[in-house]
This record gives sequence, C-alpha cells and structure tokens, in this order.
Amino acid sequence: MTVSASSTPQEQQFLEAFHQALASQRFDRMILSQYQGEIEALEKMTIRMIRLQDEWMLNVLYRFKTQDVTKNFPIDEADPLVSNLVSECKQANLFTLDSELQLKKNKKKAILTQSKKASASKIIEKSHDRQKHRFVEQESYFLQPLGITDQKEQIIPSMARKWKQINKFVEICSGALNQIQVDQQLNVVDFGSGKGYLTFALYDYLQKNDYKPYVTGVELNEKMVQFCQDVARKSDFKHLDFFQGDVRTYSPEKLDVMIALHACDVATDFAIHTGIRLNAQMIMCAPCCHKELRPQMQSPSVLKPMLQFGIHEGQQAEMLTDTIRALLLKAYGYETKVFEFVALEHTSKNKMILATKRKDFNAPDQQVLDQIIALKNMYGIQKHSLELLLKGEWEQQNIGEKC
Ligand SMILES: C[S@@+](CC[C@H](N)C(=O)[O-])C[C@H]1O[C@@H](n2cnc3c(N)ncnc32)[C@H](O)[C@@H]1O
Repeated sequence: MTVSASSTPQEQQFLEAFHQALASQRFDRMILSQYQGEIEALEKMTIRMIRLQDEWMLNVLYRFKTQDVTKNFPIDEADPLVSNLVSECKQANLFTLDSELQLKKNKKKAILTQSKKASASKIIEKSHDRQKHRFVEQESYFLQPLGITDQKEQIIPSMARKWKQINKFVEICSGALNQIQVDQQLNVVDFGSGKGYLTFALYDYLQKNDYKPYVTGVELNEKMVQFCQDVARKSDFKHLDFFQGDVRTYSPEKLDVMIALHACDVATDFAIHTGIRLNAQMIMCAPCCHKELRPQMQSPSVLKPMLQFGIHEGQQAEMLTDTIRALLLKAYGYETKVFEFVALEHTSKNKMILATKRKDFNAPDQQVLDQIIALKNMYGIQKHSLELLLKGEWEQQNIGEKC
C-alpha cells in the first residue's frame, strides 16, 4: 500500500481501509471533495470499479464546474492513485458494502468517522446495481434534463426500461468498437435520434473513454432537435450536434459509425444505405414498424396454414425484411449479427442488426445476393428499399414518391 510521508495517521487508516475493501471485494465507491490541488475547476471525484473487456478497472469520474471527465486505471495503480488524490482533498468518503468511512481535514487536524452498517438488502441492491449499470454513469449531468434521473441523480421509475436499453446499447457499441479500426476522430451519426437518449449516452461514453467523437443526431422533429441542442450546450458537449432533417436525404461527409434505433420503417433502410455507401466501419440498428413487405407478401402454399394468422404473417414479414437487410450487409462486406439486444420485458422492439466492416471486401458477394433473390421469389416480393437503394434503382421504382 502507498502512503505519502506527510500523511496523518487518520489518512493512513483511511487508505488502509480502502486497500482492504478493494482486496476483499467490498469496495463500493469513494467520493473525494473540496479538492485543493492544481487541476483548475475540479470540484470532486467519484471512484468506482468498472468491468471493461473482462477486466476490473478503477474508474474515476472527475467532476469539473461545467463537465465530467472519466478515466480508467488498472487496479494495481489504485493505491498510489488514491493516496495522491486523498492528500489533495479536504474530504474523502469511502463506501464499502457494509460501512461508510469519512475523512475530514482542516489546517489543524484530521478526523475519521465511521458510520453505521448499511442494511443487508441495500448491500445486495448496491452490488447488483454496480453490475447492471456500468456503461453509463448515473451521475452524468445530461440524464437529468433528458428526464432519466431526478435531481438526486436517481433513476425516475418510469424511465427504468429506457435506462436499461441505453446501457445495453452502449455496452454493445463498446464491444463492437473494439473490432473496428478507429482513426483519430470517430464520426457517428444517429439516424432518427428522437429525444437523443442514445446519442447523448454514446457521446458521453466515447468522450470518457478516450475516443475523439463527433456525433450528430438527425431528426425530423424540429422541437426535439432544439431541445437536444440546448441540452448538448448545457452539458458542454462541444462535438455533439443535432440536425433537423430527413434521414432519407441526409448525407454526411464522413461516417464511421451509423446508428439507428427504432427509426421508423424504411428510414432504417436509408440509414443502412448511407452507412454502406460511406463505408461506415460499424452499422448498428434496431428496426421498427416494418410496413414495406407485408402488403407485398404472398404466402408460399406450404406456409399458408401458418400465415393465415395475422400475427404470424406480421412476424414473418418482419423477419423477412430484417433478413434481407442482414444479407445485404453481408453481401456488401459486413460481418453481420442479428440478435435480441435487451430482454423483451424492456422493449418489444428488441431486435438488433449489428454489422462491422470486413477488411477483405472487394465486391458484393453474388452467392448471398442470390439467396436474397430466392427468398424474394418464394414470398413474391417485388420491392425492398435497401436493395433498390444499393442498386441505385430506388428513384425509378418510386416515381412520384418524395424522399
Ligand atoms: C421511435 S423514435 C426513436 C428515437 C430514438 N432513436 C430512441 O431510440 O430513443 C423514432 C424517431 O425517428 C424520427 N424519424 C422517423 N422518420 C424519420 C426520417 N425520415 N428522418 C428523420 N427522422 C425520422 C421520428 O421523428 C422519431 O423521433
């Protein structure tokens, strides 16, 4: 354990308690306040454990007057790091799973106080919580104006499902980012960004994890765009922008990561097309309201008894729509997965298509394109927007339709 030569016995005792809590896996968090060191405008720090790629790290949230910055440190650097930080703060609170220890310093003396043990149920709740929400920090400022947390930084009960979705989404995105080549600046576009829940969470995560994100949310609804711009400004998110416009005509200069969560109907096809066209390294979408194929679909005779039931017909149309999307991504050089990204109880629209660009792509894979033709023939499908867009035939086949 590292203790600075000038530290008081109380400080040493505090650091020893931290060391023990970490070693016995009973560490919950530490809050350091009344910072006296040289970092300008730093107000307080919160230290937690975070699991990244199967490795536990020490996560330090530095709270400045106008922004939060997070850094992760290997566990074996914990003792010297915390020893330094504690020496620079007038107050430190250590929360373990069963107690709270407070160190308060003034010019003359240091006082150490230990408070009562937390109740057993709280202990379980806390350790469970730490497992559940490790990708978006509940203390993040933007969650309040977005209506996810209240002023005490607690999740508003009616937003619990959204909170779960956001965390899961960022977790998946974080894993996929490890599989792609990331240049200096990471250009991300969220197509159909709505109130910006994911746009903000992803930007915050990227920024706190040493990426250089430039994130744009594209949204039709002008009021939502204004609202999001306002929250971005207040959060001091300088490279997060919102653009009022139609996904179907929006074309950024550069696109590394394309995301579209529940972008309505064929808006998803336009977003995927833009991703493929601009050689996005990652395409991540959770489609919704699949309206295009169902009216075209003719049941193959052997499936008629099954598809006579409306619910089955709807599910089949949805599966066919997303299968063709996934196969097109595969044909155009993407490693593609289709999976449930969050349990059904959190959202019924829980299917995700996640695609990462293969390095060896030369030309569309004809074998996969033939599989699409066979599927379309089987169901009598004439028109799938993503396919038409990729062939450059969308406008011909949609004469009169505005986009
Ligand atoms: C179901 S909401 C999802 C919002 C957000 N992605 C989320 O998951 O919280 C779909 C959003 O897409 C927007 N949208 C639908 N079609 C669009 C289009 N063609 N261009 C831009 N935005 C569109 C809607 O206005 C709506 O805000």
